[in-house]
Amino acid sequence: MKKALTVLLVLLVSFSLFAGGAEEAAGTTSAPLMNNQKPVVFYNRQPSDPTTGVIDMDVMNWNESTYYVGFDALGGGEVQGQMIVDYLATADPAVLDRNGDGIIGYVLCIGDVGHNDSKARTQGIREALGTWTGSTDPGSSNSKQGSANVGGTVMPVVELDSRAMTGTDGSTWNANAATDAMGNWATQLGDQIDLVISNNDGMAMGCLQASNYPAGVPIFGYDANADVLEAIQAGTMTGTVSQNADAQAAGTLQVIRNLLDGLTGEDVVTAGISEPDQWGNKITPEMMYKAEERALLALNVAVTADNVAQFTGARDEGIKQSDAPVKKVLLTVYNSADNFLSTSYVPALNYYAPLMGIDLTVVQGDGQNEASCLDRFTNLNNFDAYAINMVKTNSGRDYLDKLMY
Ligand code: BGC
Ligand code: CA
Repeated sequence: MKKALTVLLVLLVSFSLFAGGAEEAAGTTSAPLMNNQKPVVFYNRQPSDPTTGVIDMDVMNWNESTYYVGFDALGGGEVQGQMIVDYLATADPAVLDRNGDGIIGYVLCIGDVGHNDSKARTQGIREALGTWTGSTDPGSSNSKQGSANVGGTVMPVVELDSRAMTGTDGSTWNANAATDAMGNWATQLGDQIDLVISNNDGMAMGCLQASNYPAGVPIFGYDANADVLEAIQAGTMTGTVSQNADAQAAGTLQVIRNLLDGLTGEDVVTAGISEPDQWGNKITPEMMYKAEERALLALNVAVTADNVAQFTGARDEGIKQSDAPVKKVLLTVYNSADNFLSTSYVPALNYYAPLMGIDLTVVQGDGQNEASCLDRFTNLNNFDAYAINMVKTNSGRDYLDKLMY
C-alpha cells in the first residue's frame, strides 16, 4: 500500500513537473507549485520537544524551503541574567535587602514550561544568580542557594518561589495569572521579596497590577514592549531585554520573499539580511544564521533606564517600498491575546509586509487549543507561502500534514 502510494506520488510529481515544463516552453505561466513545495517559515515558537527543548529537525527538514526565524534564545537568557547581575553590583544592600536578613530573595514568573524561549530565560537567570540546579521547572525546590555581588558585598541569593503562570483557560505566559501570583507572594512572603523577575514583559506588567505590589521593589521583564519601555522611563520597571521584534518580523518576511524570488542556498539567509536584496532592502540590525537548526536569529540587548531612549519603537529604515511582485502569505499567531505578539510582533509584520510586496493574511488562535489555529490554517492553495506560530512547540507536523493535500 505504502509502495503504491509512493509510486502514485512520484507519478504525480513528475507529471506536474512535466506539465510545468511544457507550459513554460509554450511561453505561458508555469504550473502552480504543490503546497508541499512552497516555503514554510516557523517563527517565534521553534519546533522543539516541550520537555527537553531539543529542536525537531524532522520538521525543520520538511522541504528545502523550511526555515525558523526567531532570536538567540540561549544568548537572551544570558543577557537577562547579566542585566540583573549588573543591576545588583551597583545596588545599595541596605536598600535592596528589605528585611535586613542579609539574604536577597527573588520570585520568578516562568511563562511556558514547554517553550524553549522560556526555558532559556529560567536557565540564564538561575545560572547568573547561582541558583541553577540543572532544571528549568517551576518551584523553589528546583533551585538552590546562590550568591551575588550586591554593591561590593557578596550576599546569598534565594529563589523564594517560581510559577509557570498558566491562565485559568489553560493559556501560557498569562499576565492575569502573574497578577494573582504576585498578590499571593506579597501577602505570604512579604518583605522577603527583594527582586521580581519575569520571563516576559506581559507577566511583569501583570505583577505590577497586583494591588499589594511592594512599591519600589526592582522588577525585570523581557521583550521591550512599548508599555514596558514607558514604564522603564517612568521608573516603575527596572529593566527588560529587547529580542528585536522588528528584525524578527522583517526577517520572517524576508526569508519568505527570498524563497518566492527563487533564491536558494546561502542567499536565502543573506539577501536583505546581511546585504541588500534585489529590491534594495536590507534589515539594519545584525542577525545570525544557525545552519544546523535552519534558524535565522535576531540578537538580544538589555534595556534599562540608561539606554531606553534608543528603543523608541522607530521602524527599520533599511526597508522601503519595493517593486517586488505581490505574493500571498498565510500566517498563524498562536494566541491573539499574547502581549508580545499582539503589541510588538504583529504590528511590525503589518508594517513591513506591504513594503516587501507581501499580502499577509493573519489568523489567530486562543493560545491553548491547537485547533484554534489549525482550523484556520485553510484555503492553502490560495497562498504562495506559509508562516507558522504553533500553540504547542511540537505541533509542527500537524500543519505540515495539511500541506500534503
Ligand atoms: C516572548 C513572550 C511571548 C512568547 C510567545 C516569547 O519569545 O518573549 O513574551 O509570550 O514568545 O511565543
Ligand atoms: Ca532579605
